[in-house]
Amino acid sequence: MLTKEQIASQISHCLAGTNFTNLGTRYEGKVRDNYTKDEKRILITTDRLSAFDKVIALVPFKGQALNALSKFWFERTKDIVGNHVVEYPDPNAVVGEECTPLAVEMVVRGYITGSTTTSAWYNYQKGVRNFCGNPLPEGMKKDQKLDHAIITPTTKAAHGDHDESLAPEELIKRGHITKDDWDKLAAISLKLFARGQEIAAKQGIILVDTKYEFGKNKKGEIVLIDEIHTPDSSRFWKSATYQAKFDKGEDQDNINKEYLRLWLSEKGFIGEGAIPAIPEDVIVETARRYIEAYELITGQTFEGTPGDPLPRIEKNLAKYMS
Ligand SMILES: Nc1ncnc2c1ncn2[C@@H]1O[C@H](COP(=O)(O)OP(=O)(O)O)[C@@H](O)[C@H]1O
Ligand SMILES: [Mg+2]
Repeated sequence: MLTKEQIASQISHCLAGTNFTNLGTRYEGKVRDNYTKDEKRILITTDRLSAFDKVIALVPFKGQALNALSKFWFERTKDIVGNHVVEYPDPNAVVGEECTPLAVEMVVRGYITGSTTTSAWYNYQKGVRNFCGNPLPEGMKKDQKLDHAIITPTTKAAHGDHDESLAPEELIKRGHITKDDWDKLAAISLKLFARGQEIAAKQGIILVDTKYEFGKNKKGEIVLIDEIHTPDSSRFWKSATYQAKFDKGEDQDNINKEYLRLWLSEKGFIGEGAIPAIPEDVIVETARRYIEAYELITGQTFEGTPGDPLPRIEKNLAKYMS
């Protein structure tokens, strides 16, 4: 594990963004800078942290940790579904096959939890007993395990919009996805989630919930795109402390971006208005949790490549520049 000092000294080298003019058509997502050229999509995972659908902070080593974790999981799930990966030319970058994204995000949940208005727990507390087509029993408690994993899909909102949770029938009716594709995505998503839970469990980690994105490649095959089982797209808790904390009604030991979301909501920020100034120790702790997630899940030490990322990325992507 990198020391707090090593993490802090990378703050001045956070990757805020890129602006390469010779790498193809640029699209800036909340977290990744995307470049499309010659049927390839280069995704550069920056150090931007998004929460409440906004970019909130820069977190040192976050981009590298996410990119490395996605790599770990893509390799361990490709027997279930193919993925977009072509190569990893840089610690912050992956080159993928350019795909046509399917217009739904497949959210899979193994537990009832969350704090935002789109979360399963928030809705349950408000009295919802059928969440996106999934019946929920009476008497559930926060953070309780569901009998079986459920899928609560959302639309994939255009830039700046909020995603909307909908039952599958409604997604199909409104033309977001065909019935045939839905059935395939649902089966694949549950298999991916089961694999994720199984591998995480061996490391003493609970994969609580996650989100998958799929696309179609030029052969028309469904492939997994974007990222998989990272602390941005997923919730992770520590298995060892789960039961005791659940029994006492305490917050779980999380290793995901919930840490910063909770810190912000304690400061009164839940998405609207000015973002409170985030002190350096909170940024360092946020980074530490991303690195910890990488190390706990993979069982490997996070090396991290310190220093200024921009010249390095430019060099490593040279063959894609024209
Ligand atoms: N192989 C791919 N082909 C096409 N689109 C992709 C591929 N992989 C990821 N994407 C898209 O690229 C974007 C990644 O950037 P991100 O920062 O996650 O954006 P967003 O703010 O839309 O979540 C997402 O919109 C994702 O759907
Ligand atoms: Mg995204």
